[in-house]
Amino acid sequence: MELRELARRALSKTTWADKAALLDQVGMDTPVDVVRAFEAVGFIPGRPPVALVPPAGLGLRSVHTLEGRAILLHALAHIEFNAINLALDVVWRFSDMPEEFYRQWMGVAIEEASHFQMLETHLNTLGYRYGDFPAHDGLWEMAERTQDDVLARLALVPRTLEARGLDASPAVRHKLASGGDPKGAGIIDIILRDEIGHVAIGNYWYRWLCTSRDLEPVQTYAELAAQYRAPVLKGPFNIEARLAAGFEPEEIVALQKENERPKEGARGHIEQRN
Ligand SMILES: [Fe+2]
Ligand SMILES: [Fe+2]
Repeated sequence: MELRELARRALSKTTWADKAALLDQVGMDTPVDVVRAFEAVGFIPGRPPVALVPPAGLGLRSVHTLEGRAILLHALAHIEFNAINLALDVVWRFSDMPEEFYRQWMGVAIEEASHFQMLETHLNTLGYRYGDFPAHDGLWEMAERTQDDVLARLALVPRTLEARGLDASPAVRHKLASGGDPKGAGIIDIILRDEIGHVAIGNYWYRWLCTSRDLEPVQTYAELAAQYRAPVLKGPFNIEARLAAGFEPEEIVALQKENERPKEGARGHIEQRN
C-alpha cells in the first residue's frame, strides 16, 4: 500500500494492535505519493475509549504508591498514543513535501508505537491498562488547530509540545526511580533518546519550510506561537537535549526570556508534553 494511504488508515484505527499491524507493512520500498490530497477516512483520530477531562481533572497521587505510579505511566502512555496519531496525521494530511519528509514522519510514528507498547506492557505488570484513568486532549487539540498549515503544525507540535517532553524527562525519570521503579526509569531513557530525534526532524523540516517560504525562523516561531496560542513553556529547560535536537542557542535564550516574563502574558493553558 502507498505510504500516505497507509498512514491515513492507521490513524483511523482505534487500537494499538491494529495500528501496529499497518505500520509493520512499511518498508524502504513502500511507494510515496507526495502530490495527492487525501480525503479523511473513518474516525480521526482513532483511539481507545479513554475518558477525556480538562487538565485540572487529572488525579495526582504520590509516586510512592502503586496507584500513583500507574497514573503517571498511564499519562505517559496517553501522550505516546497521541504521538502515534500526530505523526501519522502529518504524513497523510500535508501534500507537496519531499518524499523524505513522509518517510521520516512514518519512522517517528513507528517509534511512538514502540514507546506506547513499552509503557503499556509495564503498566500491565502493575495491574492496570491504558484506559483505566482519565486523560486530557491538549495534544490533539493542537493538531486540529494547526491542520491547515504544515509550518504551523511543525512549529507548534514537534517544536513546542514534543520539545516540552525533552524538558520534562529528567523530572519524570527521577520520580519513577525514586518511587522504586527502575524499569520505568529505563523506559524514559529510551524515550528521551528517541524524542531528541523526533524534535530534530521537526526542526529540520521547520527550517526547510522557512527557507522555501523566505521566512526568518526565530521571528516566525514567535508569530506562530502567538497566533495559535501556544502554551508558554515553563523551565527548567533541558538545554543539552534541546541543543542536540537542533535548537539554536538564540532560540533557547528567547525561550528563557519568555519564561521569565510576568504571567499575565500567558498565551494559553495547555500543559502537555510528549
Ligand atoms: Fe514518544
Ligand atoms: Fe515523539
